[in-house]
Amino acid sequence: MEANVTHQILICLGSSCHSRGNAENLKYIQEFLKDRQIDSNIDFRGHLCNEMCKRGPVIEIDEQVYEGVTQSNLPIILSNHFDKAKCI
Ligand code: FES
Repeated sequence: MEANVTHQILICLGSSCHSRGNAENLKYIQEFLKDRQIDSNIDFRGHLCNEMCKRGPVIEIDEQVYEGVTQSNLPIILSNHFDKAKCI
């Protein structure tokens, strides 16, 4: 990781997760990080299917796995992790 990178977000871009919500979740996360000007602190990358499709869409933040991520729970997940924790 680069020196200023303090966190990592992994998003599954396998076909199941992608079609069930991670396409929209990807855009939301990009906007969230950009709005808070923390995008340069986050190693945000996609990965292929890792066999958790039934529990998807899946994202992972600093090794914490979130399953069933939707547009309704994603804002809470990100806010709890990056706003309330003030850990940037
Ligand atoms: S497509 Fe995401 S776990 Fe399989």
